[in-house]
Amino acid sequence: MGITTNSARFIFVSFLATWVLGVEEVNGDSVHCKYPAIFNFGDSNSDTGSISAAFFPRPAPNGVTFFHSPAGRVGDGRLIVDFIAKYFGLPYLSPYLDSFGTKFRHGANFATGGATIRRSNDSLFISGISPFPFDIQTVQYSNLKNRTTMLYTQAKRNSDIRKNFPRPKDFSKSLFIVDIGQNDLAAGFRNMMMTKEKLVAEIPDLMNLFSLGIQFLYQQGARTFWIHNTGPIGCLPSTLFDVRNPVPGFLDGNGCIKSRNDMAKEFNRQLKRKVSELKAQLPFAALTYVDMYAAKYSLISNAKKLGFYENLNICCGSFKDGVRKYCGNNILKNAAFEPIPAPYGEGFFHKPSGRDCDGRLIVDFIAERIGLPYLSAYLNSLGTNYRHGANFATGGSTIRRPNETIYEYGISPFSLDMQIVQFNQFKARTKELYERAAKTPSERSKLPNPDEFSKALYTFDIGQNDLSVGFRKLSSEQLLAALPDIVNQLAKAVQNIYQQGGRSFWIHNTGPIGCLPVNFFYNLNPPPDFVDQYGCVKTQNEMAVEFNKKLKERVIKLRTELPEAAITYVDVYAAKTGMIGNAKAQGFTDPLKVCCGYHVKYDHVWCGTKSLVNGSAVFGSACENPSTAISWDGVHYSQAANQWVANRILNGSLTDPPIPITQACKRH
Ligand SMILES: *[C@@H]1O[C@H](CO)[C@@H](O)[C@H](O)[C@H]1NC(C)=O
Ligand SMILES: *[C@@H]1O[C@H](CO)[C@@H](O)[C@H](O)[C@H]1NC(C)=O
Ligand SMILES: *[C@@H]1O[C@H](CO)[C@@H](O)[C@H](O)[C@H]1NC(C)=O
Ligand SMILES: *[C@@H]1O[C@H](CO)[C@@H](O)[C@H](O)[C@H]1NC(C)=O
Ligand SMILES: *[C@@H]1O[C@H](CO)[C@@H](O)[C@H](O)[C@H]1NC(C)=O
Repeated sequence: MGITTNSARFIFVSFLATWVLGVEEVNGDSVHCKYPAIFNFGDSNSDTGSISAAFFPRPAPNGVTFFHSPAGRVGDGRLIVDFIAKYFGLPYLSPYLDSFGTKFRHGANFATGGATIRRSNDSLFISGISPFPFDIQTVQYSNLKNRTTMLYTQAKRNSDIRKNFPRPKDFSKSLFIVDIGQNDLAAGFRNMMMTKEKLVAEIPDLMNLFSLGIQFLYQQGARTFWIHNTGPIGCLPSTLFDVRNPVPGFLDGNGCIKSRNDMAKEFNRQLKRKVSELKAQLPFAALTYVDMYAAKYSLISNAKKLGFYENLNICCGSFKDGVRKYCGNNILKNAAFEPIPAPYGEGFFHKPSGRDCDGRLIVDFIAERIGLPYLSAYLNSLGTNYRHGANFATGGSTIRRPNETIYEYGISPFSLDMQIVQFNQFKARTKELYERAAKTPSERSKLPNPDEFSKALYTFDIGQNDLSVGFRKLSSEQLLAALPDIVNQLAKAVQNIYQQGGRSFWIHNTGPIGCLPVNFFYNLNPPPDFVDQYGCVKTQNEMAVEFNKKLKERVIKLRTELPEAAITYVDVYAAKTGMIGNAKAQGFTDPLKVCCGYHVKYDHVWCGTKSLVNGSAVFGSACENPSTAISWDGVHYSQAANQWVANRILNGSLTDPPIPITQACKRH
């Protein structure tokens, strides 16, 4: 369900669960399936905390009836998926995107509020559509399975890994629940250009994508599927809110929007047929189609008789007098995707390591210099350790909240403000988990010590993607005019961490973006004055210099605003241009050449991917000697380049004040 259209559901949750599960009992024969684990896919109907961990925590009074505090769910208590888990005597499912205190021994939940079957171009921040559609959820499952299997075989008996992850042999015996589709319909209703006929015409495509998702899971060993159809979307109070003076026949006898429910029924009719087809296609699968619509509609029709209050009332929030007040508050108004493939990582980790590089990044060299382990990513819920910090950075992140999805140009939904929200949540939950883990040293050893947050170093390296979005969408005057706002939002993030007790900040400026080889992939014959003496795009580097000037001024101002902070401004731009300008003397090859990938004229095969060129398959492989390359894949620097830059910036020769990173906690 859409993040903004789900306030009504909890009214009937507990009733429905007994109903649906009851059906199984009635029909059940003597075989009683004993599932070792449950893997769930879907939207906010069954999200047990992924969106909450990855974006905004769900506010109180969500969770009030059962968990007595917000529990990552939209609803006052448990969801249907929780009742299913309970029915089988299994624990409530941990959300896959929650890397903190979660256990996957008996399954995982990939559902995210606002998820769709089809990848959408709508952004979470604008329309509440999740960046994790069904296909990504199935890839996450596959990723969990592969990595669990690897970790499990490496782990010793009785290790946490074995306690917290499913056994490799359990996957194929598990129950796979899918409840998704409502947001695809909701998005269609929202889209003014989408007539009823057009939306109906799109359903077969949704069915095919749905079917591909199930087949993919089947290929990964899944066998038992429990598939919910979609509910009577026309009965959701939030959609009824916009209805004024309905013409006769617009609403049905229960006050629901008839045409929307008809659409849901059409969706369900085709879904049921698709499930039958899948039964024929997948010989070892047991697929059950579950008529959620009938259960929910029956509940709504008989609400009063069954002791619920009437269907069009909502329990939390209000949709009155032209104002929508969402439950709790309204902030929601407005390892996580596909794994990075080989040959990424080959130069150091000898396998993909989640980094957009052949090896280590500058942040890894920082950890080495300070004598700490490499940081675990906040969004990685498998085998991570946060004792010495966490990494909230995600590829494609901007400072400002993006207006586009990751599926268009790779811009991450985790903009800096989201990363700060994640950090705040991380810090708050650390305290609770740390206390809870007092008697289990092995768990405690993976958590930060709550007393150490104020002594930690907070590093920032962000802004380049704000420029690249700007180059794409704005004139240079518009982008120039936006720089103060962009820089201010970075300053706000620093202020926020300061309020949370952070005192030491290490802030990288942005690099010479015009020198990224990607600039020339699609611009084969740039005019002569387009580039500077090094062959970099002049206007882009000028913009980066302007950004950096504004950033430095803002950092100087921050020092007066935050009297106890030690803030170091780091001139990464100077280090990188120094490297690019002296590439040969420093032992590097042409800085505008790409080490990994195939980019010849109009043919582009990105690093680690495969594609047809002139009718034959080409793999985007790595160059012979990555340690002499500056650019790894056209966008990201190689490990050798990162190391070179780290060596220049970490000893203080390019920082303001000029102190090495090991002394950056001291205010100057
Ligand atoms: C999203 O945008 C891409 C490129 O602009 C387009 O090809 C695709 O059809 C769009 N998807 C949807 C669901 O609108
Ligand atoms: C997991 O491994 C299987 C089998 O090798 C492969 O087909 C699948 O693509 C892998 N999944 C991911 C997410 O890499
Ligand atoms: C997104 O759109 C809003 C409204 O049009 C605008 O104010 C904002 O600056 C845009 N954000 C970005 C990053 O372009
Ligand atoms: C594809 O064809 C072009 C032009 O004939 C040629 O220059 C190029 O090397 C070919 N690429 C591959 C991968 O065969
Ligand atoms: C920092 O290291 C670079 C590269 O090794 C060196 O050129 C520079 O002199 C050093 N600066 C300081 C302040 O130690």
